[in-house]
Amino acid sequence: MEGPPHTIDTNNINNSHDNYKDIVVTPWEVFGDLEDKMYTKLIEKFGTQAITHDLIEKFKKLIGEIHPLIKSQYFFSHRDLDWLLTKYENGDPFYLYTGRGPSGFVHLGHILPWLFTKYLQDKFGSKLLFQLTDDEKFLYNPGATRETISEYTSENILDIIAVGFNPNLTRIIIDTKHINYLYPLATEIAKKITFSTAKAVFGFTNTTNIGMIGFPPIQAAPCFLPSLIEKKPTPVLIPAAIDQDPYWRITRDIAAKLGFYKPAQIHSKFLPSLARISKMSSSRPETAIFTTDEPEIVEKKVLSSFTGGQATVSLQKKLGGNADICPVYGYLKYFFDNEKESLERYIRCKSGNLLCGECKSDLANNTKTFIIDFKHKREKAKDKVKDFMFDEKFSS
Ligand code: TYM
Repeated sequence: MEGPPHTIDTNNINNSHDNYKDIVVTPWEVFGDLEDKMYTKLIEKFGTQAITHDLIEKFKKLIGEIHPLIKSQYFFSHRDLDWLLTKYENGDPFYLYTGRGPSGFVHLGHILPWLFTKYLQDKFGSKLLFQLTDDEKFLYNPGATRETISEYTSENILDIIAVGFNPNLTRIIIDTKHINYLYPLATEIAKKITFSTAKAVFGFTNTTNIGMIGFPPIQAAPCFLPSLIEKKPTPVLIPAAIDQDPYWRITRDIAAKLGFYKPAQIHSKFLPSLARISKMSSSRPETAIFTTDEPEIVEKKVLSSFTGGQATVSLQKKLGGNADICPVYGYLKYFFDNEKESLERYIRCKSGNLLCGECKSDLANNTKTFIIDFKHKREKAKDKVKDFMFDEKFSS
C-alpha cells in the first residue's frame, strides 16, 4: 500500500514562535487580520504546503481547467493533494469528505467550500461523505440544547442538498444518528491518541468537558470509512477552510498505524464577516449573510457593511479605495464576478473611479438573486432528505 510520505504532522506545528502569536486558528476560534500575509504564516505555522503552479497544472491536465477559487488562491494550501491526484491519474479514485457543525443557520462562508466540493464531485465523479457533527456543537456550546441542535441539523441538511450534490454519490452522516457506522472506527482512532497530543493540538484544558476531549476521533472516523466501504485502502480528499486542519493532523499521524491512507486536504481561506474584523460566523448574525435571510435583510446587511473605501467621496476620488481589505469586493470576487470583471473592479476602486455605493448595490442585487434561487432549492430539498441519508446500502 503506497501511502503519502511519512511525516508526523503534529510535530510540524510552530506554536511557540513569536512570529505566529497574532494568529489563532482552531476549529472553534479564528483570530487574525485575514490578510494574505496571515495565510502565508499559517502555512508555516501548521506545516502545510502552498498550492504551487505545478499542482495547478496537474489539476488542469486532469480536468482541463482551473477552478476560479484555485486561480484566485481562495484555496491556498493543501496536504498531499499532489499524491492524491497522482493516485487518481493511475486509476485510483478518491472519496470526498466534508462537513458542518450545526450550531446555527448556514451562511455564505460555509457555502463556498461546499460549492467547490460539488465541483470536485462533478469533475472527478467522486463519492462524498458529508458529516454533521451535532454532538460536537451540543458539547461545545454551553447554551445549546439537544432540541435546538437537532432543529439546526434538519435545516442545514436542506442547505447541503440545495448545493446540488449528486444523490447517487453523496451520503450525509449525522453523528448521533449514524454513530454505529462511526464508533468502531472512532475507538480504534481514540486508542492511538494520547491526551497529551490532544491537549497540544486542540488546546484542551482541565476545564474542557470530557465530551469535547473525546470528540475528535468521531470527526476523524469518516476519513477511514471509505476504506471500509470499498474494502481496500481508499484515498480521501477533504475540502474545508483551514480551521479544521487540527482534526486532520491527528488523524494523519495515526492513519498508517491502522492500515489506512492519510486523508489529503485542500484548505480555503475564510470569508470575512461584513464587519471585516473576523471570519463570517453564525455567532455574529448581524455581520453574516444566511441562506435563510429574507432578501430585504440581505440588502440591509450589505448596505451597512464595512468597506475599504475612504471616509468621503472626494477622498475616495483622490486616494482610491482599498479593495484588498474590503469584504464587499471579496464577496463579489469569490461569488459573483468573473476574473475580468473582478480585475476591472479592482483597478477602478484603487484609482478612485469607483465608489463603494456601486459595489454594495452590485453585491446586494447579486446576493438577493442567489438567495432567492437557493431558497427554492432548499424547499425542493425537503422531498429528497431520505435519498441522502447514510445507510447500509451505501456501505455495502
Ligand atoms: P463548521 O460548521 O464550523 O463549518 C463548516 C465548513 O465551513 C467552513 N467555514 C468557512 N469557510 C470560509 N469562510 C468562513 N467564514 C467559514 N466558516 C466556516 C469550515 O471550514 C467547514 O469546512 N467540525 C466541523 C464539521 C465537520 C467538518 C468535517 C468540516 C465535520 N467533518 C470535515 C469540514 C470537513 C464544523 O463545525 O464546521
